[in-house]
Amino acid sequence: MTIQTADLTGIDVRAEIERLRKERNAVILAHYYQKPEIQDLADFVGDSLDLSRKAAATDADVIAFCGVKFMADTAKILSPQKTVILPDLEAGCSLEDSCPPEKFKAFREAHPDHIALTYINCSTEVKALSDIIVTSSSAETILQQIPADQKIIFGPDRHLGGYLSRKFNREMLLWPGVCIVHEAFSETELMKLMQEHPGAPVAAHPECPPAIIDHADYVGSTSGILNYAMTMEGDTLIVATEPHIIHQMEKALPNKNFIGAPGADGNCNCNICPYMALNTLEKLYIALRDLQPRIEIDEDLRLAAKKSLDRMLEMAAGTVGKGDLGDR
Ligand code: 13P
Ligand code: SF4
Repeated sequence: MTIQTADLTGIDVRAEIERLRKERNAVILAHYYQKPEIQDLADFVGDSLDLSRKAAATDADVIAFCGVKFMADTAKILSPQKTVILPDLEAGCSLEDSCPPEKFKAFREAHPDHIALTYINCSTEVKALSDIIVTSSSAETILQQIPADQKIIFGPDRHLGGYLSRKFNREMLLWPGVCIVHEAFSETELMKLMQEHPGAPVAAHPECPPAIIDHADYVGSTSGILNYAMTMEGDTLIVATEPHIIHQMEKALPNKNFIGAPGADGNCNCNICPYMALNTLEKLYIALRDLQPRIEIDEDLRLAAKKSLDRMLEMAAGTVGKGDLGDR
């Protein structure tokens, strides 16, 4: 459901969000890929793991989730008594789309001796079919707790799975999904940029293809990349992930230079996540006003999906969402 916002002229949307946030006892959670104006008014901005933990722990009555649908679904799975709203229900994810539950189920059934270690970027149904969920900031910690002789299916991101597989020399059966955003980075254009900024390190999200990862000085989750930016010594960083994360870097370090890695024509907007971009301040206001669009999940399905998410939270305990994938 994409909400019409044409009738909001004359309304001070920011002031209304403030009023409704208090009136509804709502917490606004935002992912680093959200537009700066959303990040700036959120109560908490974080990566997928941090946001899951916040959703599980909040005492607010309403969670206004500014991110994509699988993230809002996760909040509802972990906090079923809360009202969870998502400004635009169409805010999906190409990784979730790549992994229809019935096909995933058949894949699992064809490999009964494998466990399913599944990236959080998937549907609630796929979570329910999985053994353990991981985020990019918890994947390494969790994988290392799985006995070496245990066979593993990893889905739906073949690049994150491939990265982990190479790093830990651990064979895994990979589901063939990709993130359309990270897939769009161009190695040729990245190399040109690196020549223009000699010595500038490259930080990349593990959803990037290997050709991009191979140039990275640091590989990690969004919070890991942010942490790298905060602690690096140089003045310039090339950032190979969705560019809205640069907003946090520029706020914290206004005198440093953060450059988004380029897509195929060197100057496209193809690295902006089109799903995340569906959320706007206007839609957030309407969602808080109407408590719609609202996330609803069948209780049996929720309980089934919660098992694999709870395992993630247990196995990732002590992981602080700050770059646990570490240096290559
Ligand atoms: P993080 O867990 O690193 O925030 O990643 C979420 C995501 O969707 C990246 O594309
Ligand atoms: Fe999904 Fe990619 Fe957007 Fe992340 S950036 S939400 S993986 S489409």
